[in-house]
Amino acid sequence: MESIQATKQRFGIIGNDPKLNRAVEKAIQVAPTDISVLVTGESGVGKESIPKIIHSLSHRKHGKYIAVNCGAIPEGTIDSELFGHEKGSFTGATTTRSGYFEVADGGTIFLDEVGELPLPTQVRLLRVLENGEFLKVGSSATQKTDVRIVAATNVRMIEAIEKGRFREDLYYRLSTVEINLPPLRERREDIHLLFRKFAADFAQKYKMPTIRLDERAIELLLQYRWSGNIRQLRNVAEQISVLEQNREITYATLKHYLPDMGSNLPAVVNEKKTESDFSSEREILYKVLFDMKRDVNDLKKLTLELMKTGSAAKVKEEQSTLINKIYSEESNAEEELAAIIEEENNSNISDVEVFSIPEHASEARKDKYEYAEEVEEEENLSLQQKELELIKKSLEKYKGKRKDAADELGISERTLYRKIKQYNL
Ligand SMILES: Nc1ncnc2c1ncn2[C@@H]1O[C@H](COP(=O)(O)OP(=O)(O)O)[C@@H](O)[C@H]1O
Ligand SMILES: [Mg+2]
Repeated sequence: MESIQATKQRFGIIGNDPKLNRAVEKAIQVAPTDISVLVTGESGVGKESIPKIIHSLSHRKHGKYIAVNCGAIPEGTIDSELFGHEKGSFTGATTTRSGYFEVADGGTIFLDEVGELPLPTQVRLLRVLENGEFLKVGSSATQKTDVRIVAATNVRMIEAIEKGRFREDLYYRLSTVEINLPPLRERREDIHLLFRKFAADFAQKYKMPTIRLDERAIELLLQYRWSGNIRQLRNVAEQISVLEQNREITYATLKHYLPDMGSNLPAVVNEKKTESDFSSEREILYKVLFDMKRDVNDLKKLTLELMKTGSAAKVKEEQSTLINKIYSEESNAEEELAAIIEEENNSNISDVEVFSIPEHASEARKDKYEYAEEVEEEENLSLQQKELELIKKSLEKYKGKRKDAADELGISERTLYRKIKQYNL
């Protein structure tokens, strides 16, 4: 039997963790049989190499190996992809097509993200697993195939079964042997080893000296959570390899590349941005935009009320409730955004409508109210026309200076820009 070390070397698997070794050993042991195997583990732990090991060490190694990502194929076509279809079985089925189960006869199919399979497909799969029989879509002629299945999942299958999203009988059929790959954070000994390997690979790829972590950076590397596991570690190694001039990587430098370090707002505390930082900033911005949309809806109501009643007294009343409602809510997102904007004074982010920030709220409220009052004066016109006129007026007043006009209108420059385009000004 091939040794664990040799197999790891052959498949480029780095690490010496006992759980990892056990997983590889299990793959080697089960390979010569036709037993179905379910590979489990978080995303990025290296599940994809297990079915390759199994196939290569099996008597099927000269047969086909087909990897199917069940989560990536649309529900409408997955049965046809896997089992094929008859000509004319649905619109667009102009020819008879063989599915993977026919093509891989005598080989191995790797069903990645098997938990994503639609229930009807699960029924077909169960049948083929039980007696090697399947039907092409639109056909009533049973076909036979001899395929070994290795499946993988990162979803908690038990939960999926409880919720009725995955058939229990199929689960047991698939998981005759389960091979679990541990998350990276449970493989402490391997983290630095993997990092050094990736650093060396990327140094070669990008023709730059290899990056090295100093002692404190190594500590950070080991204590970090790595929720994206080896895939994330690899990405971080690549980013640093490409972006850092100084090849001696310190704690502070590494920290920039690790999202969620000590705070869920790395973007605010870091002076340097990475892609992952931007993604959490984006999340905050989405949240703020969402809150703003709600505010805008309330303001629309207010404006409408103004136009309908034309009565200042009535409106003032409504307005105070609305305004209170809008600005009294303590929104974390707004504070967070305020912090970002403070940091990023000159960047695009300050382009976001600053009026949603508490410190600026009173100013903005005034602007909006003035805007609303102007609207009230010309009741007969539609809101759009009024808006158009206001924008025109304001642009004239500031001689086309968009920033000043936007300030007066109480909207962002970006919004103003959009409106100018919209109204063809
Ligand atoms: N032990 C390992 N040694 C080296 N690279 C690994 C190891 N495990 C995973 N990788 C790499 O990490 C990435 C993610 O692995 P993958 O098998 O796609 O994860 P999963 O399918 O579990 O989400 C791939 O680029 C893979 O080559
Ligand atoms: Mg995968």
